[in-house]
Amino acid sequence: MSSLPLAPTPPMGWNSWNTFGHNINEELIKGIADKFTELGLKDAGYEYVVIDDCWSERERGADGRLVPDKNKFPNGIKPVADYVHSKGLKFGIYSCAGTHTCAGFPGSFEHEYVDAATFAEWGVDYLKYDYCYKPVHVAGENLYKRMGMALRSCGRDIVFSACNWGVDDVYNWIRESGAQLYRSTGDIRDNWQSIKHIALSQLDKQCYSGTYCWNDMDMLVVGMCGKGDNAEVIDGMGKLAGCTDTEYKTHFALWAMMNSPLMIGCDIRRASEEALNILKNPDVIAINQDPEGRGPFCIRQWNNPDNVFALIKPLCGGDYAIGMYNLSDNPSEMSLQFFDIGLPTASGLALEFYNCHTKENEGKFTERRSVRVEPHDCYMYRCKVVKA
Ligand code: GLA
Repeated sequence: MSSLPLAPTPPMGWNSWNTFGHNINEELIKGIADKFTELGLKDAGYEYVVIDDCWSERERGADGRLVPDKNKFPNGIKPVADYVHSKGLKFGIYSCAGTHTCAGFPGSFEHEYVDAATFAEWGVDYLKYDYCYKPVHVAGENLYKRMGMALRSCGRDIVFSACNWGVDDVYNWIRESGAQLYRSTGDIRDNWQSIKHIALSQLDKQCYSGTYCWNDMDMLVVGMCGKGDNAEVIDGMGKLAGCTDTEYKTHFALWAMMNSPLMIGCDIRRASEEALNILKNPDVIAINQDPEGRGPFCIRQWNNPDNVFALIKPLCGGDYAIGMYNLSDNPSEMSLQFFDIGLPTASGLALEFYNCHTKENEGKFTERRSVRVEPHDCYMYRCKVVKA
């Protein structure tokens, strides 16, 4: 095992759940791995190919071990992991802290150590660990510590991706479980309401995210365009309806700025060019992957403080990332006062704005930056502090 810490920046990859649900198999996963290289996703930084729920048989084997579904993965999981590795990528799988996974397959409760050993043998590099069917008599905190220790002692580097949806005060105890990332919300849906709800719910949680233990705002829906195959996608959070490209752009810019892992959830084999451009934007990714891993602070706008805000994040080397977001349904004139972010006019300094979407340098500004932001749209800048 490596003596270096895992996930020094938010993990980037792809996960099968959003689009494929239970419809997964060996060919799909290999095809996705192929596309990672063909589409330039690997070069953009995406690394983990993760199989979510529904990969195993309904019962454990006689030896107590998990058994891969014989139809979906006729050769087992190891060859799939090997294939993913042969592409220079990493391989992830899913289990659950409860007796069953959310879709009713065997969970790892009371099998933590044997499952960690099995995953290590198969060449797993990343484990997403869910929270369904958790026995009421054991604290969730304890169960995540257990799997955390099982992974740390299994002889292989395996990123631990906890997924308890932000319940049971997870913010207070997850870092010490050893998890490298933790889900902080319920499941995302491929619609604007869901994106907005998740982003707003995590604005005041940024201090609980950082290097080696990232707040995971759930997989990306960029590029899904209403094509998810997940049967559970219709619920109180609205119908699976898809989003506009502008909404996907804002979704990605929020997740990037808020240091969420960037796990693609669409069928990349069929994603539009626009979706791929959003997902591969190097300037936005660089802000997410900034080595210093600091979270942003939020400056709300007086005229619609619940939905219109700027996020400001100090980057390694002295730059600042500034995102201006309008999650409301009306155009908004936004004005960010530099005094509010620590740059009074008397400093004699200005901010130079580089637009991460248009790739234009928009020049120097003093005192404030005002922009009109269309509904559901955003601006994302990388700024330098320069002489006025
Ligand atoms: C939970 C998780 C999802 C997904 C499903 C699989 O709902 O939050 O991300 O893993 O289980 O059943």
